[in-house]
Amino acid sequence: MVDAVVTRLRALAADTLAGNWEHDHTVPSRTLYPHQWSWDSAFVAVGWAHLRPDRAWRELRTLFAAQWADGRVPHIVFNPARRGGAYFPGPDFWASARADGAPAVATSGLLQPPVHALAAWLAHRRAPTAQARSALRWLYPRLVAQQRYLAGRRDVGGAGLACIVHPWESGLDNSPAWDLPLAAVPADTAVLRAYRRRDTDHADVAHRPTDLDYARYVALAESYRAHGYRDDGLPQRHPFLVECPLVNAAAGAAEHALAGIAAVVGADPGPHRDRAARITAAVVDRLYDPASGTFHPRDVRTGALLPARTVLGLLPLILPDLPRRQVDAIVAEARSARFGLAARMERPLPSHDRTAPDFEPVRYWRGPSWINIGWLLWRGLRGHGHPELAAGLAASMIRLVATAGAHEYFHPDTGAGLGSPRFAWTAALLLDVLATTAPDPAVPV
Ligand code: SER
Repeated sequence: MVDAVVTRLRALAADTLAGNWEHDHTVPSRTLYPHQWSWDSAFVAVGWAHLRPDRAWRELRTLFAAQWADGRVPHIVFNPARRGGAYFPGPDFWASARADGAPAVATSGLLQPPVHALAAWLAHRRAPTAQARSALRWLYPRLVAQQRYLAGRRDVGGAGLACIVHPWESGLDNSPAWDLPLAAVPADTAVLRAYRRRDTDHADVAHRPTDLDYARYVALAESYRAHGYRDDGLPQRHPFLVECPLVNAAAGAAEHALAGIAAVVGADPGPHRDRAARITAAVVDRLYDPASGTFHPRDVRTGALLPARTVLGLLPLILPDLPRRQVDAIVAEARSARFGLAARMERPLPSHDRTAPDFEPVRYWRGPSWINIGWLLWRGLRGHGHPELAAGLAASMIRLVATAGAHEYFHPDTGAGLGSPRFAWTAALLLDVLATTAPDPAVPV
């Protein structure tokens, strides 16, 4: 029975990944996201490592071939074979060719959470072949440059943490975490008359960010683009500057992964361990609030922590050296009625505090359950000695996909599938979870 479920889910995941494979990368979704996305590619590589390690390495090489001269890894790499109008904002909007240090291929000018070193390390651990070592040798200096960009040009607050300049950089676009700083961004939905959103051609408008959100996304991207995507002078001119717990926890986890990769490629792991310890200390010092007992983003423009209790607050658990006090606080927050983590979960893990008045169960990152977030938390729980909670979360994720399919996100009460129906990272990370967790017998075959 359980074997039949695993066989069916592995086939579903393999079929989804194969269907989204596009000659040298994987599209997150054939309809909504028809190009290459940065953090999607990292998660997808973790999944390909279970099926076709050659594709895991190809995926990461294609992404890092589009790295900018300053080390930033763009959040979208456009496939020139796709029509310009397939996605908004497309290559004409970003106009990367006009910016200094951009690659030959068209990209966006933003970044996404740096989960790539972790993905490369996991892909190597799964299949430590000569091909994997050779890929790691190619990737290592590029992953180091990615970290250097974050720690250097993006340390706008000067405290050792990277700053994001756009909610898209957090990966959690319309999370309530960003409502306060976004409200200060002057924008008018009239700007959308000059553009056409494409996302709502493929997904229910109620499941996507609002037009006002998009007006602000466009205004922020235009502001950054107007200065050639340069980072000097950001505090004087850019209206959105935030230290995100996920971006910085991913950067810390990346240094841990790079210490492992350095040992494989014959480099010195020591500096990575030192940087990892410094990032973890800065995440705790700058983003942990003893009063709320959880982590929050910090608005660099006002100096204040942003009060919403979103799932971002739980994600520093991916830092292997997070102190026990903060581990315990995150576990307590995750187990509270806000997130409902349990050894037997009644409902899926939401992306926002389900007791909050602005919780929206179907709107993208304002409530729905996401497999990549569950996967990160699952890894953190296992690493910090909570195998029963990790197993409960894994069982909940498996149940979601077994019941609804490899959707982009899921209703946090009913588990119904939302967004794109054949979503690459859902399939990829499910494969990784299935490799260590058996589904519970109640999951439908
Ligand atoms: N997540 C964004 C979108 O919805 C892009 O990064 O298009």
